[in-house]
Amino acid sequence: MKRTGALWRHARLATMQPGTPWGWLDDGALLVQGDRLAWVGPDAKLPRDLRPDAEHDLQGALVTPGLIDAHTHLVYGGERAAEFELRLQGAGYEAIARAGGGILSTVAATRAATDQQLFDSAAARARAFMAEGVTTLEVKSGYGLSQVHESRCLAVARRLGRELPLTVRCTSLAAHALPAEYAGRPDDYIDAACSWLAGQQAAGLVDAVDAFCDTIGFTPAQTDRIFRAAQALGLPVKLHAEQLSDQGGAALAARHGALSCDHLEHLSAVGIAAMRVSGTVAMLLPGAYYFLRETRLPPLQALREAGVPIAIASDHNPGSCPALSLLLMLNMACTLFRMTPEEALRGVTVNAARALGLPDRGRLAPRLRADFAVWDAEHPRELAYRFGHNPCRRVVCGGVLRASA
Ligand code: NIG
Ligand code: FE
Repeated sequence: MKRTGALWRHARLATMQPGTPWGWLDDGALLVQGDRLAWVGPDAKLPRDLRPDAEHDLQGALVTPGLIDAHTHLVYGGERAAEFELRLQGAGYEAIARAGGGILSTVAATRAATDQQLFDSAAARARAFMAEGVTTLEVKSGYGLSQVHESRCLAVARRLGRELPLTVRCTSLAAHALPAEYAGRPDDYIDAACSWLAGQQAAGLVDAVDAFCDTIGFTPAQTDRIFRAAQALGLPVKLHAEQLSDQGGAALAARHGALSCDHLEHLSAVGIAAMRVSGTVAMLLPGAYYFLRETRLPPLQALREAGVPIAIASDHNPGSCPALSLLLMLNMACTLFRMTPEEALRGVTVNAARALGLPDRGRLAPRLRADFAVWDAEHPRELAYRFGHNPCRRVVCGGVLRASA
């Protein structure tokens, strides 16, 4: 090990390493070299001959891995506050979608927005997440629904990763809803969406492929076709599965080795067994559950007993979850789903990293990316306990201290 770098001392470290609760270290230290962690351990055991270029005394502040929001729809035009009012008056989310509102109303607003407008609004949202310690963000397309507009949205997502100090993973979600120009011809639309993938991949715009398998989305057979097209290009898949009904989507996605299945309120025992075998992450989205006033809980205990890794994400989008806070999702995962605060934090660190296929982050350990957040808190359970409050004080992303958290 080189003996230089930036040294962070006297932290309460929640490393999220397996084996002990929170991977806890009471008086810990981190050595950062380049964009990596070079050394992590008890402060008292720091190598004696270190000559750090910079030294920070954290005076007992809590440090966690940088948070990972592994499911967002951050790029879109417009908003859906009027739809929120309609739902409060009794209109259903599915009924609004079937009447041409819902996702399709956001598609119209997205197509009407310029690239710069899409970028500026998405960047403002990304900054809100970053202020709460987020260092990795997944961003889906799915409000373009044509070759040009899907590619535009993916390009905006890529640009976020280039221009903001965070990692952005781009997911194609062309199979989100059926655009009006393909009304009555969902299979033709799926053919088209499959044909766009190679070009988007060649342009470096896509890291994974998602679909919405549900009564107002696409059938398992259509989902299967988009997944085959993805896998022919070597792209990993994930699925909006079992959100509003049980379509057997999770088992289908698991057969394709999906990184994650997301939502899962209607997940069956068959789906859980398939996810266990494939090692697919269960991505729970308490914000959408809350905002749609769902009553059917995802099968948390059965997922635990099967040993399926559980992640938490914001699902930020204008229709089912306009929240801009991942910390709020930790609180909701505990209050609504009865997850423990430690499960919730694992859900936005180590298990979220797994859901993105990024084993180089989500924990604090040597050789992993130097992505971490410093909090005004004594214990990590406080991150799930408070809500409507941001205790994030500093963020290091890829070894670089952000100008402001
Ligand atoms: O994850 N379920 C499908 N997609 C989004 C909602 C999209 C929207 O309503 O605009 C979700 O909840
Ligand atoms: Fe979603």
